[in-house]
Amino acid sequence: MNIGFIGAGKVGFSFGKYLSLNQHFLSGYYSKNLDSALEAGKFTNSLCFDNLYELIKKSDIILITVPDGQIKAVAQEIATIQGLNFSNKFFGHCSGAFNHTILSDLKSLGAYTFSLHPFLAISDKYKSYRDFSNAFFTIEGDDMGTKMASSLVKSLGNHYKVIDSNCKPKYHTAAVFATNLMVGLCDMASDLLMDCGFSKEEASLSLSNILRANLENVIQKGSVNALTGPVERNDEGTVITHLNCLSNREDYSHVYKDLSLHLIEIAKIKHPDRDYSDLEEKLMVLG
Ligand SMILES: NC(=O)c1ccc[n+]([C@@H]2O[C@H](COP(=O)([O-])OP(=O)(O)OC[C@H]3O[C@@H](n4cnc5c(N)ncnc54)[C@H](OP(=O)(O)O)[C@@H]3O)[C@@H](O)[C@H]2O)c1
Repeated sequence: MNIGFIGAGKVGFSFGKYLSLNQHFLSGYYSKNLDSALEAGKFTNSLCFDNLYELIKKSDIILITVPDGQIKAVAQEIATIQGLNFSNKFFGHCSGAFNHTILSDLKSLGAYTFSLHPFLAISDKYKSYRDFSNAFFTIEGDDMGTKMASSLVKSLGNHYKVIDSNCKPKYHTAAVFATNLMVGLCDMASDLLMDCGFSKEEASLSLSNILRANLENVIQKGSVNALTGPVERNDEGTVITHLNCLSNREDYSHVYKDLSLHLIEIAKIKHPDRDYSDLEEKLMVLG
């Protein structure tokens, strides 16, 4: 199967390189700017196309790796191209937020459609392909699209999961919790340290070790066994002290309270013999 890319950005470059290094044949790239397609072709030893017609004609699988906001428009543009036979073509995108139905204009012309999301932060056009061997992929699509995408990922040796198309927004929310919202939490911790006189560099240095160790614990042991701290210990006094010192930062205080209420649910699993109801009540009222 020849694989073509529309959108020579971070994912197009990286995924293309990973596929080509794993014995898949790339037809090449089309992109908004010809220079990007040319560069991606050089990087992956494939061709660059200056029109969608030729790229699609020469590809069996077409991955639309443009920004999320452009996927629908690109699919609509492809659907207007005359003289293409869509019946044996597979069109997919790599968005975490959208499902395959965003490609319905192509489906109605007889193409198979799917989404194939690498659960990965891809930040560098030239280096991020090295992270792909550990990437977990999430797949959904129509029957044929799902089957094809699954066998493609299987051939690469990556872990993957096929999910219900309706779960795509929730799946993406999960990814945001694990990545972007974590960034927000770390930034809040750093801010509070700076309130205590730390410089930005000192805050970052002091957090680096504890962050790594904590994440490693969550990964290795799971949330229940990794949980420590005042909520787990049912230490009401400390929790109230923390909330008091956040009294001039209402947003921080809301985050502290809401996450602590969730931590109580985890703590109850860890210590079924402990009664967290007083702490729970305090958190509901305070904060
Ligand atoms: N980056 C990540 O961490 C990550 C992770 C998983 C999934 N994804 C998904 O992967 C997809 C691509 O993301 P990305 O990070 O690779 O974005 P990106 O680096 O911004 O690359 C997108 C490329 O698409 C091209 N493009 C834009 N509009 C186009 C159009 N109308 N027609 C043809 N080409 C067009 C642009 O190429 P030019 O250079 O030619 O202007 C741009 O380089 C998105 O769906 C995103 O959600 C991203």
